Amino acid sequence: MKVVHVLNGPNLNLLGTREPSTYGTATLKDIEAALQKKAKAAKVKLVFRQTNREGELVDWIQEAGAAKAGVLLNAGAYTHTSIALHDAIRAIGVSVIEVHLSNVFARESFRHHSYISPVAKGVICGFGAASYELAFDALISHLA
Ligand code: DQA
Repeated sequence: MKVVHVLNGPNLNLLGTREPSTYGTATLKDIEAALQKKAKAAKVKLVFRQTNREGELVDWIQEAGAAKAGVLLNAGAYTHTSIALHDAIRAIGVSVIEVHLSNVFARESFRHHSYISPVAKGVICGFGAASYELAFDALISHLA
């Protein structure tokens, strides 16, 4: 059975109430429920996690590598700052898709650089909660 780990970084626990004009009104629980439904239909085991801590994301990326799981990663602001996440992705031999709810390129210039993109299989951003579903479909067809 294919395994997909969906890893969420800082402040994404606040989705639903956090800047809804930028991130929409879906909560992380709503996003998880939609993905669990898709995973069930695709016979994929889905692990869905959120943390506000950079080191915990590093641990979870390493775990996904050990489990040979594909990864959807929304690293939040660590996307733009974290060499540690870049190195963790380089170190594991599994596909990682970078996900963002917002179109980071249409926002402040400090969001235009990503440490994740150069080591990701691909990037999906700008479609709100649907970014996760699009990324899931892309990962599944890539893994097939
Ligand atoms: C985000 C975009 C990041 O720039 C920001 O720091 C986030 C959320 C997104 O999903 O649009 O926390 O990753």
